[in-house]
Amino acid sequence: MERKVVLGVTGGIAAYKAVEICRRLVDAGVHVVPVLTEDATRFVGEVTFSALASEPVQRSLWGGDDPIPHTRLGQGADLVVVAPATARFIGTYAAGISDGLLTATVLATRAPVVVCPAMHTEMWEHPAVQENLATLRRRGVRVVEPAAGRLAGGDVGAGRLAEPAEIVATVLRLLGPGDLAGRRVVVSAGGTREPIDPVRVITNRSSGKQGHALAEAAAARQAEVVLVTTTDRPVPPGIRVVRVDTAAEMETAMTAEAARADVVVMAAAVADFRPKAAARSKLAKADGVPEIVLEPTPDILSGLGRTRRPGQVLVGFAAETDEVLDRAAAKLARKGVDLMVANDVSAAGVGFDHDTNAVTILGADGSRLEVPLTSKAAVADAVFDTVIARLPPHPVDDDKPRSNS
Ligand code: C5P
Repeated sequence: MERKVVLGVTGGIAAYKAVEICRRLVDAGVHVVPVLTEDATRFVGEVTFSALASEPVQRSLWGGDDPIPHTRLGQGADLVVVAPATARFIGTYAAGISDGLLTATVLATRAPVVVCPAMHTEMWEHPAVQENLATLRRRGVRVVEPAAGRLAGGDVGAGRLAEPAEIVATVLRLLGPGDLAGRRVVVSAGGTREPIDPVRVITNRSSGKQGHALAEAAAARQAEVVLVTTTDRPVPPGIRVVRVDTAAEMETAMTAEAARADVVVMAAAVADFRPKAAARSKLAKADGVPEIVLEPTPDILSGLGRTRRPGQVLVGFAAETDEVLDRAAAKLARKGVDLMVANDVSAAGVGFDHDTNAVTILGADGSRLEVPLTSKAAVADAVFDTVIARLPPHPVDDDKPRSNS
């Protein structure tokens, strides 16, 4: 599963450093939900966090669509980190008082909680603060100690928020590895473009959104990801991108990358036909309507199905408008894949260019998982949950040749 962290920000001057913590966690593939106290917003803009985090900022127990946001946040989090944590937050949490969304969330969670205090030296050294922290530590809360350094107003002393890098390292260590850590995942995305002449192409309606969501989901689970794509959509850091245009280029790239992969997902909409010979110069309208002779493209997925290494999990997509499940099941068998993700592209909100999708994941073992209309990110997560259940315990080893036995 994707690793989800609630980042609590309370009202201290160090709140600006929480922006850096947020960005570093997102870059590490963590899903970050920012929760700001009212006082935090006096120091740093809500918009900054909403732009950088995985979800918009939440501030209040009241007024949103969700009547119990703290319960949802607390239960859904794999970890809660509060940085900076003021003396007031620490006192309220230690006393078990729920006086706002953040204190309610830390009381409603069973996930690990990391508290990163930041305050003036006098406050930091006050017995009340130290006793409250001792109480929290005794209850299993992890405290990232502040450092000595420059404080607000030019004072120097203990109480400065620990460095963002140290806080992020602590969070990542406590979260543990993602469930695709150490695995190599190759994903293809987008529609191929087959040239008619130097300016015209035959292509299809694929936006590449589902393929990109798959690559992002695999990276969030800490896989080493290669994305072979025809689109120029932005890709988060950490994903290696191979840009291609035609089916032939995609075949070359996928065959090379799949040779080392534990998981291969062909989400691309590969053209089934291409002009037999692209004209060298632009076809002129004055020469009349051209006759374009088509030939079939290579079936990349079938090729990967024939040559794949033992233990590799191979996933195809079947975009259909009629007899969706029957046709997808036939393709699953014909192309030699483990999973076929069937897509009824005639249904509302599904498939090409939408941000949402609804699929049925068919397994070669006869399994069938329906994923009703949801985000493409959630579909990607359902695909990888199904893939992980089929992966052998150890990643594919490059150095040692494997046998089927
Ligand atoms: O046969 P159909 O095009 O419906 O199959 C769809 C699946 O096969 C997708 O996973 C697509 O990426 C893959 N495919 C391919 N090479 C082709 C056509 C489709 O790999 N030439």
